[in-house]
Amino acid sequence: MPIVIEKLTYKYQSGSVNEFTALKDIDLTIQDGEFLGVIGHTGSGKSTLIQQLNGLMQPTSGKVTVDGFDMNDKKQRMKGRALVGMVFQYPDHQLFDETVYKDISFGPRNMKLPEDEIDRRVREAMRLVGLDEDEFAEKSPFELSGGEKRRTALAGIIAMYPKYLVLDEPMAGLDPAGRRAVSDMINGFRKKLGCSVVMVSHSMDDIARCADKVIVLRGGEIFKYGAPSEVFCHAEELNEMGLEPPFAARLAAELRKKGFALPQSIYTNEALAEALKPYGKGWRNV
Ligand SMILES: Nc1ncnc2c1ncn2[C@@H]1O[C@H](COP(=O)(O)OP(=O)(O)O)[C@@H](O)[C@H]1O
Ligand SMILES: [Mg+2]
Repeated sequence: MPIVIEKLTYKYQSGSVNEFTALKDIDLTIQDGEFLGVIGHTGSGKSTLIQQLNGLMQPTSGKVTVDGFDMNDKKQRMKGRALVGMVFQYPDHQLFDETVYKDISFGPRNMKLPEDEIDRRVREAMRLVGLDEDEFAEKSPFELSGGEKRRTALAGIIAMYPKYLVLDEPMAGLDPAGRRAVSDMINGFRKKLGCSVVMVSHSMDDIARCADKVIVLRGGEIFKYGAPSEVFCHAEELNEMGLEPPFAARLAAELRKKGFALPQSIYTNEALAEALKPYGKGWRNV
């Protein structure tokens, strides 16, 4: 069953003089197995939105249902929350145990799984995130680099086999190779378990690589929602908002201005290369 968000409004310090409406009237469904990319300016409400998905925050009004569990109801919230694995923007907040192995095994142990299953999952999660067991299992999480901490936090979540994996800017601060590694990892995990993924990112290129659906937030409201081709074809509007559409979408827009007949739906490098094929020989004459 999906995650269904209905008429969700969230106000910080609701009822006080400092009341601030961070989300307004959001309707959104995240289907089973779907990859949803969440985009928007700093302060547009991305983190507030995803924290409603595991009941960390409850709506001021409206409703969130996870797999049929009403997250406004205390008992049902516990059940819904167990299905949602959340990786926060700052992995330091998530790591606390003495060793990487113990840290990753914390979640599965809490689930009261048998010891051999915990061990199997920890090893598998380390392999999936590319942390070598011999090198890292006994290390303290605090000796790790930023990228390694992020992988450890991610491994701790995926070892619980969440039905919904929610990631808040998992690529922030990583170099291009690191970004690609994290996105390959997420895709690998998704293929293995068939879970849904909700990923917040500043980079539309990262989102373009893997999303089935994209939501763009602006000032706590939905500005755009749809398949990547439906959202990224509004390259100019996104640009005006100060958001940078994927490289291929921007280049395709420039080429159209020069007379190239390229479809609006282009947003990946592969699709752009394919669409330019007919121009092959003699492109200088176009
Ligand atoms: N604890 C808080 N109290 C008051 N306002 C907050 C709090 N946390 C976030 N906000 C405000 O809510 C808005 C949305 O924040 P957030 O969801 O963190 O945005 P994003 O993740 O898109 O950067 C911002 O304007 C932010 O200043
Ligand atoms: Mg945020």
